[in-house]
Amino acid sequence: MTTGTRLDPWFTSYAQRAHGLAASEIRALFAVASRPEVVSLAGGMPYVTALDLDAVADTVAQLLRERGATALQYGSGQGDERLREQILEVMAPVGITAHPDDIVVTTGSQMALDLVVRTFCDPGDVVLVESPSYVGALGVFRSYEARVVHVDMDEHGLSPVALSQAIDQVRADGGQVKLIYTIPSFHNPAGLTQGQQRRHDILEVARRAGVLILEDDPYGLLGFDGEVPRAMRADEETGVIYLGSFSKTIASGLRVGWAVAPHGVREKLVLAAEAAVLCPSNYAQLTVSEYLATNDWMAQIDTFRKLYRERRDALLAALADHMPAGTTWTEPAGGFYSWVTLPEGLDARAMLPRAVAGLVAYVPGTGFYLGEAEQDANRRSLRLSYCYPPPERIVEGVRRLGNVIDDELGLIATFGQAAPGTGWHQHDEAVLSTPAPDLA
Ligand SMILES: Cc1ncc(COP(=O)(O)O)c(C=O)c1O
Repeated sequence: MTTGTRLDPWFTSYAQRAHGLAASEIRALFAVASRPEVVSLAGGMPYVTALDLDAVADTVAQLLRERGATALQYGSGQGDERLREQILEVMAPVGITAHPDDIVVTTGSQMALDLVVRTFCDPGDVVLVESPSYVGALGVFRSYEARVVHVDMDEHGLSPVALSQAIDQVRADGGQVKLIYTIPSFHNPAGLTQGQQRRHDILEVARRAGVLILEDDPYGLLGFDGEVPRAMRADEETGVIYLGSFSKTIASGLRVGWAVAPHGVREKLVLAAEAAVLCPSNYAQLTVSEYLATNDWMAQIDTFRKLYRERRDALLAALADHMPAGTTWTEPAGGFYSWVTLPEGLDARAMLPRAVAGLVAYVPGTGFYLGEAEQDANRRSLRLSYCYPPPERIVEGVRRLGNVIDDELGLIATFGQAAPGTGWHQHDEAVLSTPAPDLA
């Protein structure tokens, strides 16, 4: 039994599911990492400064003058109807055809994730996720006490063979697989993209097994080569819930995302949304709607794409220049992230305080796994984000990281490797080592 403490007299009152929720000690480090002298390659913050902020200001002013009373009022639990129609246009490039009624607008796609999981998962139900997976989704799965099973990826993303085996294994052990959670395009954090054949193969595995796919696609329009990957939902209507977001294509601060779901599921999601928040913010939704109606949003996405491509190029060139032999990394064709694997013997999490002292920050790869064994197996990995700092800062950050790694390798050469299993996860083996939301 748990007992209260002087620090938190309510400790014994928490619901079971709240006990797994706690900030890890690396959060404190990230607070330091946000100082201006530190080059942060940790955060996944979109570079909203590249928006035409005057145009956004005009849009908001016009909205409030012309439809202020509606924008500042409660709205529908499912979301604004005109916005749902516009979302259909935004999804056209990924090949999705749907009806506005299939869409539920949410407070960012993060809330859609929450609604889906609360609708489908009882404690102990299994969610299959990529290896590694988006830390914000892992937090949702954990908060509903779902059991997360990581499935291997290869250079083309989630492996259908491993997926099929994982489903069989969970079922053989008496488990219930409720969802396959995947980020097929420009994966966070792996930086990989599934090709068309891979998507078909995964769909086929899911169909055969009768498992619902949760397709998370916030980066789909941010490909660097002009090609927009076709969504899985474009080829499968009843077996896929698709999540989209305006966070990376307009502004994350507006907190507007959406889910496209089969009819019955959609009704449940709306009821769940009403129970959680009554309705998503009308103000934010109408701002997005007005922005889409009065601005060349496609041109703005092009601006973002070019900007992020330049930063990706800077990162890859700097990695080639500054990483020691034995380091590998993914070469993202879009999105915000590259996944780096350090030379044998290094531990990215243990190294983080020294990196921050060396004025560079990243997110240790262990944060993208649930489960001690998975974390242990991935101590050499880390995620680098290139979305926020300008190219010259990225290069400087990677140079600093190279120095930190060299020092680390020097220490290992002199004193040998730290014994495995010592130190860092003794305090938080049950805790997801999440960075704060701005770093997710
Ligand atoms: C894969 C993935 N899914 C969902 C989200 C959440 O996005 P939103 O701002 O729409 O809640 C993020 C944000 O970084 C993400 O990377």
